[in-house]
Amino acid sequence: MTVEPTDASILIFGASGDLTSRKLIPALFQLSRQGYLKPQNPVIGVARREMTDEVFREEMKQAVAARFSREPFPENEWLLFAQQLFYRRINISDAQDYTQLKNEVALLEKNLRGAEHHTRVVYLATTPSLFSDAVEGLHQSGMIPPRGSDERLRVVVEKPFGHDLASAQDLTARLASKLREDQIYRIDHYLGKETVQNILLFRFGNAIFEPLLNRNHVDHIQITVAESQGMEGSRGGYYDTSGALRDVLQNHVLQLLCLIAMDPPSLFQAREIRDEKMKVLQALRPGKTGPVANWAVRGQYAAGLVNRQPALAYREEERVNPNSNRETYVAMQVAIDNWRWAGVPFYLRTGKRLPKQVTEIAIQFKNPPLNLFSTVECDGDLCDLVETRPNQLILRIQPQEAISLRFSTKRPGMQYQIQPVSMDFGYESHFSVQLPEAYERLLLDVMRGDSTLFTRSDELEAAWRFVTPVLQAWESSSSPPECYPAGTWGPAGADRLIAESRARWRSPH
Ligand code: BG6
Repeated sequence: MTVEPTDASILIFGASGDLTSRKLIPALFQLSRQGYLKPQNPVIGVARREMTDEVFREEMKQAVAARFSREPFPENEWLLFAQQLFYRRINISDAQDYTQLKNEVALLEKNLRGAEHHTRVVYLATTPSLFSDAVEGLHQSGMIPPRGSDERLRVVVEKPFGHDLASAQDLTARLASKLREDQIYRIDHYLGKETVQNILLFRFGNAIFEPLLNRNHVDHIQITVAESQGMEGSRGGYYDTSGALRDVLQNHVLQLLCLIAMDPPSLFQAREIRDEKMKVLQALRPGKTGPVANWAVRGQYAAGLVNRQPALAYREEERVNPNSNRETYVAMQVAIDNWRWAGVPFYLRTGKRLPKQVTEIAIQFKNPPLNLFSTVECDGDLCDLVETRPNQLILRIQPQEAISLRFSTKRPGMQYQIQPVSMDFGYESHFSVQLPEAYERLLLDVMRGDSTLFTRSDELEAAWRFVTPVLQAWESSSSPPECYPAGTWGPAGADRLIAESRARWRSPH
């Protein structure tokens, strides 16, 4: 396949932060190694700290080298890449600093490619409170090209985009006062994951699955984003103001829901795909009537064992309020009120300190209309009636990205004995490649100007509109979240929630 290099300067605001060294620079380095990022494109880290280019390059090298475990660190390729890496100090909140930044960026561009760039990407990897200041600074210094100009500026905004509906609307309005929607790229890194992108190809590039994905054949769908991690590093400070609903369900889980539930777009293009996702969000409803507690459960981890290692209770974690009622787990039953999905429950769950790190979508089909096969199987005195189990289609997003289909077969022998088996397709074993990191794909898309995998402002607002009443109900409630020991699959309330539909949560393996 031919590699089409991209041509854009990249400015990373918040360059001394964790995201830059952990995700952004490693992704840009990979893009450069694969020939997607030309050496004439400056990558400029911008932050408040005083630092020379050399120190910045060295810090980034350490961070990138630490990520090479499967192959030796390619020193020579790094040396080439490091030549396009620069650092400029500014106070992001001070609009005065931006004129100087603009001149320095232009100078770097002239030195590297002989002329100023026509496309610039500004990645806002700062705390959200600086987003508007950064956009104001870009505006005042004339770095935002007007409509019709052949110059382009694309501003990438990291989550969280607000903490409820009102604050998200406020942020949208502040960004929209200076930038056009086509200049804003709201990143949800889940959409950059290879297997997440494959959901659409799997559904709409094959003829055999899609006719089954509707209320006629599907019993229910489970979406799980489980993490075994807790509050590593100083994460507790941020997390204690956020919680599982804001941090993961409002964005990553709802995006997965949109992709698995949406109707086929008329074209495989950004607007058409996002329009279809938007229709899912507009049709999203609580899974049951009555108070929030009827369809949403929150939990918080207590001390326990994760991967056989002792784990602290959430309230004992660094930078977490010891009386915190913040949820580290959420499960909910939701419905999509449209012709395709009316009556099909969707169960969503996400949490920290669960037994495994796993993200998957499990589609459970209805039972055959007539149960012809059932056998009695005995183990000593204990006898069980074994019937065919419903078919399941599992899309495993991570780890060991895979698609698997479960069905029943006859166990070899003289009787009709039922055995559930599965047909598995594993990405890495099939393609024998390491899958690209989500940020590689997303950064390349921003440079190319493809917004398909980014969240549009109306999607964002619709997702907040759905979750905000739940947040409000929890924040005004006097009862704390239900406890679950670290290393277990969440609180008992979540099991009760799904048991009402005569279903069970999957134990992903
Ligand atoms: C982030 C959340 O958006 O996603 C984190 O802020 C979470 O709390 C992470 O751990 C999960 O992403 P991934 O790619 O590791 O599944």
